[in-house]
Amino acid sequence: MNDRNISQVVPALEVTEGAGVKIFRSIGTPTRRNLDPFLMLDQFSTYNPDDYVAGFPDHPHRGFNTFTYMIDGYMRHGDSMGNSGDLGPGGAQWMKAGSGVIHSEMPQQESGRMRGFQLWINLPAAQKMTAPEYQDIRPQAIPEVNLDDATVRVIAGEFEGRRGPVTDAHTNFHFLDIALEPGVHFEHAVPAHDTVFIYLFEGDATIGDDALQEQQLAVLDDGERISITAGSHAARFLLVSGSAIGEPIVQYGPFVMNSRDEINQALEDFRDGKLVQTRADMISR
Ligand code: FE2
Repeated sequence: MNDRNISQVVPALEVTEGAGVKIFRSIGTPTRRNLDPFLMLDQFSTYNPDDYVAGFPDHPHRGFNTFTYMIDGYMRHGDSMGNSGDLGPGGAQWMKAGSGVIHSEMPQQESGRMRGFQLWINLPAAQKMTAPEYQDIRPQAIPEVNLDDATVRVIAGEFEGRRGPVTDAHTNFHFLDIALEPGVHFEHAVPAHDTVFIYLFEGDATIGDDALQEQQLAVLDDGERISITAGSHAARFLLVSGSAIGEPIVQYGPFVMNSRDEINQALEDFRDGKLVQTRADMISR
């Protein structure tokens, strides 16, 4: 088995989104516009309510999936057609925006730590205008594998025979939250040609000869295995993989389509109140 090496380190940039929420963006910045099939990765991480209380009031999406994973704090999402759901520590939400959703994502707390991630995953052209869906995943539905010196939460994909509850029919999506004790070496087999990245959000680590610091994303080259060693502090990171879709990506803010014309159509539909075409179905587990 050959180990994957780092092909690019992408530092997370602090940006302000929504109604003034501070987030750290890695995929979706000038250093790394996208990483097919992934379009954006945001981390929110703060103890300061001023950084998050304003939340993300009503905003549109079309043409891709959003995946939210909460580590600390509470968020309520609601859409313009009356669906709503709560996200709490360790829970997740998968939303297929498809042909169009207008929704809000609002923190349900006024103090304490808010920490989590939102990842945007592209849809193939044939799926972009399909009906939207929400899926709430409760923390208890996510398997946690406790090894001697590592803990792995399996949100999507498989680890040690445990399968995560989130599946994506189009990209072979894997999403693991891995915590390692200081100095621990960890190996995991991955599909040899899929896109793979690691986002380190606690501690430090090395992959091959390269060091990775907190709030850095490592894009990995091809290979059958990832091999990572925690530094002198405990390390915690996301290990994410997916098959590239290999189609043109044209993005304009919250709309991600295959051509300029389709973006113009999305803008026109939004302006004319026609972005939302079908009610999103809510699935809870
Ligand atoms: Fe959103």
